Amino acid sequence: MKLDPLVSSLSLYDIANTPGVAADVSHINSPAQVEGYAGEEQLGKALEGSDVVIIPAGVPRKPGMTRDDLFNINAGIVKSLCTAIANYCPHALVNMISNPVNSTVPIAAEVFKKAGTYDEKKLFGVTTLDVVRAKTFYAGKVNVPVAEVNVPVIGGHAGVTILPLFSQATPKSNNLSDEEIKALTKRTQDGGTEVVEAKAGKGSATLSMAYAGAVFADACLMGLNGVPDIVECTFVQSSVTELPFFASKVRLGKNGADEVLGLGPLSDYEKQGLESLKPELKASIEKGIQFANRS
Ligand code: LMR
Repeated sequence: MKLDPLVSSLSLYDIANTPGVAADVSHINSPAQVEGYAGEEQLGKALEGSDVVIIPAGVPRKPGMTRDDLFNINAGIVKSLCTAIANYCPHALVNMISNPVNSTVPIAAEVFKKAGTYDEKKLFGVTTLDVVRAKTFYAGKVNVPVAEVNVPVIGGHAGVTILPLFSQATPKSNNLSDEEIKALTKRTQDGGTEVVEAKAGKGSATLSMAYAGAVFADACLMGLNGVPDIVECTFVQSSVTELPFFASKVRLGKNGADEVLGLGPLSDYEKQGLESLKPELKASIEKGIQFANRS
């Protein structure tokens, strides 16, 4: 975010160690002014005046864990951060990275509803890393320049709820067999797990996640600045399916999510994938809503 020309002021917050990170990042010769805030008593100051808040807080997975296994720790962290957002920057766009995204976004929505600040156009689950992975894997398989590739990814951000739409990938390839499309789909769905296993207990994706988070936040900032035709896949409140939250292409504008776009034509394989992701996604959404309203 320090490299983003649209950022004038960058607030870094954590429970500890932020002054060092802020000093380090602040030496990069780009215009954004950097401040570090450490400890809960500084959270309000960190948030005040923010247009966009990016939440990557919480614990990462270890091998063998699902994203849902992080729920017990990360749900509470997300809830308290969102309570502070409602107090200190209720109009900011919120980019939720903390897992399980399929539950933390509904938690945030409930916290904002209770505080009377909820605006469905301003809450986003960041699923950009799924798109980044789908683009990389597709470009490698089809042998096209990766910079030209686009692949929408719909659903949610965990296992089978991640549904890349390779039938809509561009540049088009007519040479992929059904087996190859299945393998690309599975690799995209398991992309996070591939990194968790490779890191062997030392966490999950951080570098590709930082890239994806910055791509999505930059798209939000371009939308806020009135740049036309900014479209990204993201997990938002949605009526595209019967589920209350769903990831699909969204047009970003001056108010946040200006338009949640439809899914477009799906292949039979993708239609099947869509039906089979719904029970898990529904359960994760309900788990988040129940948590937020229980405590
Ligand atoms: C990812 O997709 O890499 C992140 O959601 C982290 C994880 O646990 O997989």
